[in-house]
Amino acid sequence: MNKQYRDGGDLDVPNLDKPLELLESWVKEAKEKGSEVPNAMAISTVCNDGKSHSRMVLLNYQNDEEIGFFTNLNSNKALELRNNNSISVVFWWPELERQVRLEGKARQMPANQVLDYHNTRPRKSQIAAWSSNQSEELQSREELAEKFNFYEKKFEGMDVPVPEHWGGFLITVESVEYWSGRPNRLHERILLTKLETGWNHKRLYP
Ligand SMILES: Cc1cc2nc3c(=O)[nH]c(=O)nc-3n(C[C@H](O)[C@H](O)[C@H](O)COP(=O)(O)O)c2cc1C
Repeated sequence: MNKQYRDGGDLDVPNLDKPLELLESWVKEAKEKGSEVPNAMAISTVCNDGKSHSRMVLLNYQNDEEIGFFTNLNSNKALELRNNNSISVVFWWPELERQVRLEGKARQMPANQVLDYHNTRPRKSQIAAWSSNQSEELQSREELAEKFNFYEKKFEGMDVPVPEHWGGFLITVESVEYWSGRPNRLHERILLTKLETGWNHKRLYP
């Protein structure tokens, strides 16, 4: 297990006014190179006792300085974010030999934006959102299947509404680090940090 990084490619952040532009193009490139879930990212949150918790979610929204994901608003991650809105994020695409790390502050997504995304989801995913008390104990798989069937019947012949317990979080990005794997462990790293106006740019030793 001693991987030789071939070449993640030269690293350059061409437009400091748009620090997340490179993230967007790396997600696209990972997709083109065959990544099944190029928008998968690990997010870490902190709970009351100071312990951190990480899990994968999907990047499903992005603008110049924010990224967003969707989830159950009663889940552990949502409760943790409501208590402490600091969040860190990491992407890794082995196909590209590239990593992106972000840090920032999360806030709940406005309802109209949640509705817009909900309306794009397959019906069965919408039903599943109603059926899951995410992060709570489940007695059996049958219980979940029964709930799914219940909501399928309940919403038969009508649009599935957005459950009150389902929504999203927007992360206002305060720092972003791009990493590209290079031969001989001489990897490239560029750290961008948000200032009062604009972004600071520096290279880091690998
Ligand atoms: C590739 C991948 C993508 C996932 N995407 C999401 C997502 O977008 N939203 C979500 O709530 N959970 C997603 N999950 C499940 C979470 O990792 C996690 O199990 C769940 O959200 C409960 O986390 P919590 O108990 O820390 O709140 C995903 C899991 C994987 C493996």
